[in-house]
Amino acid sequence: MTQRKGLILAGGTGSRLWPITQGLSKQLMPIYDKPMIYYPLSVLMLAGIREIGIITTPEDQAQFRNLMGDGSQWGLAIEWLVQPSPDGLAQAYLIAEDFLDGAPSAMVLGDNIFFGHGLPELLASADQGSGGTVFGYRVSDPERYGVVGMDTDGAVTQIVEKPAQPPSNYAVTGLYFLDGSAPNRARGITPSARGELEITALLETYLADGTLNVERMGRGYAWLDTGTHASLLEAGNFVRTLQSRQGMQTGCPEEIAYQSGWIDQAALLTLADRYAKTEYGAYLRGLI
Ligand code: TTP
Repeated sequence: MTQRKGLILAGGTGSRLWPITQGLSKQLMPIYDKPMIYYPLSVLMLAGIREIGIITTPEDQAQFRNLMGDGSQWGLAIEWLVQPSPDGLAQAYLIAEDFLDGAPSAMVLGDNIFFGHGLPELLASADQGSGGTVFGYRVSDPERYGVVGMDTDGAVTQIVEKPAQPPSNYAVTGLYFLDGSAPNRARGITPSARGELEITALLETYLADGTLNVERMGRGYAWLDTGTHASLLEAGNFVRTLQSRQGMQTGCPEEIAYQSGWIDQAALLTLADRYAKTEYGAYLRGLI
């Protein structure tokens, strides 16, 4: 098991989903049959991570706690952290500094969904790396994203936010594996023109040291954003199609915990019984 700790950044304003998210956190919205946050949580679990800090707004934290508690039902230890205002992704490392306590981390954005055969292997390979690792995903419209530039050997040469002339088609996804120096580095960056501690600025400090790596997610991976009304619905439809076609769940924390040996059969049955009226419950029961 890895010593790397997990972080889920689940604050923000969700203004592109208003009016839906005016009274409810975006990361609690349904993606078909599960709350959105289950999907990024599952990514951390697939990376073998069991100590996870979840950062929410102060107002939303109680609802997240109702849903997930201390994580022990999934064999996890969840620590709840607060971001008083959405001052940028890199601020997560300042908020989580005590929780991380010098450990390397894997941070995932609470509204990013990853799916792909071989994801556990890709995560395991990133876990071996030192410095920082970002995950590049090929998109047709890179000018909308943070984009990673690479040389012919695949080494990172630059990270640029929403470039007019993208150096590649690889967008930087919302999953970052950083070493224990991330909080210290985050302290050294200054807020951008929009007043945020930008993740790009933090990644650039690794790039300057020659320790920023990129893992490319190739054909066969899905990386979905859920930040707009249309993309939220599309993500739900994607999960529904995948699950009903294959008869397998994606983003199911109970299943990963059981398959990883973090919870036993009796614990899984208790969880399945709780959802007895749903297909989700039947699926959990069927795992045994
Ligand atoms: P965004 O989608 O960039 O921002 P948002 O969620 O506030 O939505 P909108 O643009 O519609 O207002 O955020 C990406 C993810 O990061 C999302 O899961 C929320 C989270 N986030 C924080 O938790 N804190 C922050 O300071 C920021 C900027 C984002």
